[in-house]
Amino acid sequence: MAFSIVMPIKDEYDLLRSSLPACYSVRPDEVVLCFDKPAPAKCLELAKDLGAKQSRIKTRIVEVERNPEWRFHQAWVRRSGFRAAEHDRILTVDVDLVINRNVLKAVDLVGKDDVGLVSCSKFYPVTGPLGFWRAVAYHLARRAHFAPFTGLYCIFRPYWLDSEDEGIKSLEDPRTERALGSLAAVGEDTYLRNCMITRHRVLYLRELGAYCMTRYVEDVPHMQFELGRYMAAKGYSWPRVLLRALMYGRIHYLRGYLYQKRAGLEIPTYNPHTYRTQLMKGRKQRAYWAKQVPMTFTDLPKTYEQKRQFRYALQDYMQDFFAFNQLRGQRVLEIGSGSGIDSAEMLRHGAQVVSLDFSPAACRSTKSLLSEARLGGDVVMADATHLPFKGDYFDVVYSYGVIHHIPNVLEVLEEVRRCLRDNGLFMGMVYNRDSLLYAYSLLYLHGIKEGLLAEGLTEQEIASKFSERKEGNPYTKCYTKDELDDLLCRSFFRQIRIQPCYNVIDTQMKRKVKFQLEDSEQESLGWHLAFRALRLPKLGR
Ligand SMILES: C[S@@+](CC[C@H](N)C(=O)[O-])C[C@H]1O[C@@H](n2cnc3c(N)ncnc32)[C@H](O)[C@@H]1O
Repeated sequence: MAFSIVMPIKDEYDLLRSSLPACYSVRPDEVVLCFDKPAPAKCLELAKDLGAKQSRIKTRIVEVERNPEWRFHQAWVRRSGFRAAEHDRILTVDVDLVINRNVLKAVDLVGKDDVGLVSCSKFYPVTGPLGFWRAVAYHLARRAHFAPFTGLYCIFRPYWLDSEDEGIKSLEDPRTERALGSLAAVGEDTYLRNCMITRHRVLYLRELGAYCMTRYVEDVPHMQFELGRYMAAKGYSWPRVLLRALMYGRIHYLRGYLYQKRAGLEIPTYNPHTYRTQLMKGRKQRAYWAKQVPMTFTDLPKTYEQKRQFRYALQDYMQDFFAFNQLRGQRVLEIGSGSGIDSAEMLRHGAQVVSLDFSPAACRSTKSLLSEARLGGDVVMADATHLPFKGDYFDVVYSYGVIHHIPNVLEVLEEVRRCLRDNGLFMGMVYNRDSLLYAYSLLYLHGIKEGLLAEGLTEQEIASKFSERKEGNPYTKCYTKDELDDLLCRSFFRQIRIQPCYNVIDTQMKRKVKFQLEDSEQESLGWHLAFRALRLPKLGR
């Protein structure tokens, strides 16, 4: 499996002499050495010398200039290396680490099954009684499955690109006096890890890793002091802090703790506009959709053809409204492909389809349906709020029954607009608030008869809980026709066509029972709002 090693270097000649040969010994396809510009001549010479001896391993030197947009220079240097690397599997190694072949396990795991990052351990030299004490403490902590994130890790680049946010630019170097409170514990690698777990899986290989030639970064007294303050602000008891200080031999925790207790100052914890809030928002939704993929019929397996018959007989307006048969040759992105049934339909009609879903289970289902149907198509795992495509690429974006489950829907529409070409078509479906299903099945049966409104649940909470076959969806927002129109207008779409359809209700006995109304108003009570809209051309072109 091809992979690159990325190593940021300042001027550590002596360390480089040991760590670089170790990097070559694990046989990567490429080693990217990222120097602060200008690279120190001695280090450069060494790198070139050692690199020249490797016939099968490419060595690349990247010189990185300071970037005023980034406060923590090392974070910028490392990311420049990530971008420069030729391969998507990237093992990043600090210059003070001597790795060996056991880290290849991390390379092997990353990029499969939604794994975006695999962290390994660092093993420190045991010097003196304190060193011995700490080695034991770290060993016990690892055994107890408390694995500190070490900063020796392998990433899968597409997942990194899709998860790390702009907050990284304002991160301070935790070793400096500018990093206060818990920010002293968040290095650039921890930040990356925290972003990654909002969208992808992170694994720890506790027993595998590298030998570290320098001391623990947490030994910097300022970091210990700030962490002590943070523990006080978080309300840790003093025996707990004392235990921690003794366990790791870090006495400045106590200094910071006592200082904070006396002074009671407000200390920064994290930037609420960055990864933490995303973590809170996205996680529940991902967990819900990870457990079920609609239209996969796991209880009573169906063939592709049977699924197809079922789908378009039940939702009989779809073929007409979305005109799948007119998509030949068009570049189509399906957001939230689920089982992949509509992606398959579009592929059958000759469209070039990319199916996207944030759930690994849905991506697997889409892939297996497309292969069963012997259709091509690409499947991408990503979040609708961060589409990993260049702008103006797609002719059509299609999203059926998805955006009403996403709280930050404006972000999705902004991404859809960015990826669509001028006058490109956005089409799909959201749930209709002005429908019989909403009024009868959700509000009357669950809200009133079952007493959930009286118990204090809001309409939105009831709609979320019961909108899908599997109870407990964390977020469903049903739109009125006017609300949807407004949303699309605000996101710069025009020629908006919205049609209520799919006249069904859920009864206590059975879901999706079709009904027919005598009068001509019947259309307006359907559970689905199907829509089509064109993206306004970009101004100034
Ligand atoms: C109700 S299912 C619809 C699936 C499919 N479109 C269909 O009609 O059968 C919603 C799908 O959207 C996906 N989804 C939900 N939120 C998403 C997000 N933020 N980004 C990407 N996919 C998402 C879920 O994983 C799920 O597969």
